[in-house]
Amino acid sequence: MYDLAIIGGGPGGYVAAERAGAAGLSVVLFEKNELGGVCLNEGCIPTKTLLYSAKVYDYAKHADQYGVSVEGASFDFGKTMKRKHKVIRKLVGGVKLGVKNAGVEIVKGEAVIKGRTVEGFGIECGEVLYIASDLLICTGSEAVVPPFPGLKEAGEVVVTNREILSLEEQPEELVIIGGGVIGMEFASFFNSIGTKVTVVEMLPKILGPMDREISDMLQGIYAKRGVEFCLSCKVTGIEGDTVIYEDPEGNVCRVRGDRILVSVGRRALLQGFGLEELGVELALNPAGRPFGIKVDDHMRTNIPGVYAAGDVTGFSMLAHTASREGEVAVNDILGHEDRMRYDAIPGVVYTNPEVAGVGLTEDEAQKKGVEYTLLKLPMAYSGRFVAENERGEGLCKILVAADSHKVLGVHMLGNPSSEMIHGACIAIEQEMTAEQLKEVVFPHPTVSEIIKETVSTIM
Ligand code: NAI
Repeated sequence: MYDLAIIGGGPGGYVAAERAGAAGLSVVLFEKNELGGVCLNEGCIPTKTLLYSAKVYDYAKHADQYGVSVEGASFDFGKTMKRKHKVIRKLVGGVKLGVKNAGVEIVKGEAVIKGRTVEGFGIECGEVLYIASDLLICTGSEAVVPPFPGLKEAGEVVVTNREILSLEEQPEELVIIGGGVIGMEFASFFNSIGTKVTVVEMLPKILGPMDREISDMLQGIYAKRGVEFCLSCKVTGIEGDTVIYEDPEGNVCRVRGDRILVSVGRRALLQGFGLEELGVELALNPAGRPFGIKVDDHMRTNIPGVYAAGDVTGFSMLAHTASREGEVAVNDILGHEDRMRYDAIPGVVYTNPEVAGVGLTEDEAQKKGVEYTLLKLPMAYSGRFVAENERGEGLCKILVAADSHKVLGVHMLGNPSSEMIHGACIAIEQEMTAEQLKEVVFPHPTVSEIIKETVSTIM
């Protein structure tokens, strides 16, 4: 008998397990693959490891811009893949240790919910029945692979974010279906190492909901580097190694690749672990189709004692959201006041240059009828940025409420936006005004000063 059973050991599940264990609850954590989930094993960490190798290679190739000569720089695909495995192994080991140190019992295997007994929730794994008073579901998500005609016949040519991370050879030509976050990060990696990349995107812009002006700038940067973008293009099928799509004029076009990456989104994993046994209510999209487990801002489902956190809730599919949601669920179980807020969840795209944003974009503000003042400066207003980014393009945009001057959104293009965006998250989370943010002392010289510079342009 346990206080809490957690299904899924990704950033939602393992963080929740650690917190709950450290707070004195008896916790059992079920994971059928490796601890760390998609993030650690086939998502955030492996891609960032590979992207860093590509960045080092980019530095080497362009070192002469900084007065350094590097001759004969080359990229060893096999070695970078090996390093990626090593990084994953190290971090998975670290997670395991952290969870064990918190006194959590880790059960490796596929857990299936058997229903509710008088004692608690029954979960079966490896023919053993575990009973727990509370249950937290963190089963995550899987890549959406639409049933394009010819996809099955294409076999191993077609890959998702999972298989592409295990390639043994660098493709010479890569077609990416979907110019979202995953698509652009892989476009960045393969473009840097010399693969010919084509991105076929259904919408008229890349990076979905991210700031339009910044997405357009990023597209321009990669177009100059040789990535081909086919926007407003609908994929109609796959023929062997060739993607067939319809361009905006209705012409049927074809583009071939040694590999075809399908990165058109992810969906919550709702089946195969007995969720239906409990009568947990699902959240429905406007078309009436379920997209995730319905939760309130304490991560409670409609069944008392059953919680859900992470991608399985079907929105904000980000590792950092999942971890925070797991914490909120555990705090509710412990009786600590806490609640989930989504206004200040940062989004980062680890291209080179990076894109990072938090809060409202201009498009969202306009759609919601929010009146805002736009403050905007090129990154070149930061001395450090100029020192470290020869010919580098970048932009910082800050939206503040027209009446109260509260910071509503911050969007940046330029390195290292991923390491600066948390400052903006704090400003939004704490409902700071532009004037208050302006008074904060930023270290000099840092690229982060661009936030202070931009917000200081307020009249
Ligand atoms: P996404 O939703 O970011 O992008 C999918 C793109 O595919 C969209 O632009 C969509 O218009 C396009 N698309 C859909 N169907 C299409 C079709 N038939 N033909 C052409 N284009 C089509 O999804 P993505 O990139 O697969 O990422 C999945 C999830 O993983 C996201 O929720 C993202 O938040 C998360 N993620 C986050 C990362 C980060 O934080 N850096 C990195 C990687 C993934």
